[in-house]
Amino acid sequence: MIILGIETSCDETAAAVVADGRRILSSVVASQVDIHHRYGGVVPELASRKHLESIVPVTMEALESAHIGFNRLEGIAVTQGPGLVGALLVGFSFAKGLARMLRVPWRGVNHLEGHLHSVFLGDKPPPFPFVALLASGGHTSIYHVTGPTSFELLGQTRDDAAGEAFDKVSKMLGLGYPGGAVLSRLAGQGNPERIKFPRAYLDRDRFDFSFSGLKTAVNQYIQRHGDDFDDRMADIAAGFQEAVVDVLVEKLIHAAEMAACRDIALVGGVAANERLRKRLLWEGTHKGLSVHIPSLDFCGDNAAMIAAVGYHYVRKGDLSEMTDDVYSRLKRS
Ligand code: KG4
Ligand code: ZN
Repeated sequence: MIILGIETSCDETAAAVVADGRRILSSVVASQVDIHHRYGGVVPELASRKHLESIVPVTMEALESAHIGFNRLEGIAVTQGPGLVGALLVGFSFAKGLARMLRVPWRGVNHLEGHLHSVFLGDKPPPFPFVALLASGGHTSIYHVTGPTSFELLGQTRDDAAGEAFDKVSKMLGLGYPGGAVLSRLAGQGNPERIKFPRAYLDRDRFDFSFSGLKTAVNQYIQRHGDDFDDRMADIAAGFQEAVVDVLVEKLIHAAEMAACRDIALVGGVAANERLRKRLLWEGTHKGLSVHIPSLDFCGDNAAMIAAVGYHYVRKGDLSEMTDDVYSRLKRS
């Protein structure tokens, strides 16, 4: 079954064609980083306008590189939330209109469920059940995943998301936005042992996170060492990154042990972090776990993961209605 995926929840306009929820026929991601960079963060109205400009060409490119026409599509999956409402509306309205015109089934998809599915796009998809850490710019959560559309939240951040902490510390160091990739590159040149920042493990047997104390500690360190700041930048970045990685790796492995799962997955934009990937692979394998991490192209926002989720709903006939709307936040239960 061939599904077109559409993703416009934040600052990436993405479209992808995926067969049977696993085989990627094409995946196109148009980043808006250049536009938001100078403002130090995503400007919602600019994001919506850029999505509006890009949505048709990006979709056409996805179909062309998959070498298929509209008539081959058997369903459409689109991000419904959480995200920026104005940005979501562009993709959501476009998908609705396209589905109506083509007379194909369509389904609004939860962006976080999309990230969880990014791990099925690689060569080594995990068997169910598995424990997954989703670390992105908006979320840091651990899930127990028991089926393609069934998962339970085991814990989440109480304040900042891991990616948000990377972005904020990057700003403090004057590295700009988005921070994750550039901060981790600098960290690679520093010594992670030289500056010890605090790790918030909270209750060891619970899977909640907190990164605001770490962020404050980095800020205070920078204030105190203003004079020789330049010499210490790489060590600050490395020390900060190590503190985040320590907590993420420890909590994920411990959650797998508690849930008696042999398979663990790391997904979301922060999963692109090289140090985190290495440490998790090493420590997870050492503990006898099978570690699943998507390739770099599918850690950040993309539409292939949205098509991968949509496939399961469309196949079940669990579809969206033309009157359905987007949502900015996850509904709390
Ligand atoms: O999943 P994603 O693309 O978008 C959201 O759904 O939020 O995640 C973006 C986040 C940003 O906070 C970015 O700084 C972070 O992922 N990120 C990284 C790296 N690459 C991206 N964080 C740490 N190390 C990286 N290499
Ligand atoms: Zn995301």
